[in-house]
Amino acid sequence: MKRVAILISGGGSNMLALCESMTGDHPARPVLVASNDPEAGGLKKAAALGIPTAAVDHRPFAGDRAAFEAEFLKPILAAGPDILCLAGFMRVLTPGFVERFKGRMLNIHPSLLPKYPGLDTHARALAAGDAEAGCTVHEVTPVLDDGPILGQARVPVLAGDTAETLAARVLREEHRLYPAVLRRFACGDRTPVRS
Ligand code: GAR
Repeated sequence: MKRVAILISGGGSNMLALCESMTGDHPARPVLVASNDPEAGGLKKAAALGIPTAAVDHRPFAGDRAAFEAEFLKPILAAGPDILCLAGFMRVLTPGFVERFKGRMLNIHPSLLPKYPGLDTHARALAAGDAEAGCTVHEVTPVLDDGPILGQARVPVLAGDTAETLAARVLREEHRLYPAVLRRFACGDRTPVRS
């Protein structure tokens, strides 16, 4: 059984989708939900599911990413994860952190990478007049929102869409895609999931 730690910064809807998928014959189980924000809504949701949680506030570290990560790593290493899933984790990780979990760390990003790495993906897709949008699960490398693509899901952009309506449509797909990719990945299968 693979041990999965999930890193979050916010409400944790992707985290919940992942945790709820890891039951029965699934080859993995959640062992930790960790956040850089002690107020992240997802922490309570994880605790309600009986999943251990940890929080290390990044703010007192005042931009010293390595010092923050040294503290953040402690509960993660104590949980002994085989796989790390970033699920709405909004801190950029140092190359040292990424290297430690090389080939074992996944991220979900709300765009069809390589389009729109970084923030405000939906507003950028609308501004560009794109006919479709979507989400991507990829392996994490030291380059932001880069790394081998393990799955993508597409949605149409509809007339009258705002960044919010498009984000909601994409998020529904995120909740399907990420569990599908994790299940395959936990079995050692890196064939991209397409939908
Ligand atoms: C999701 O849309 C996820 O793709 C995005 O943040 C949201 C988190 O929602 N992640 C990023 O933008 C990472 N660069 P959630 O907390 O409800 O899962």
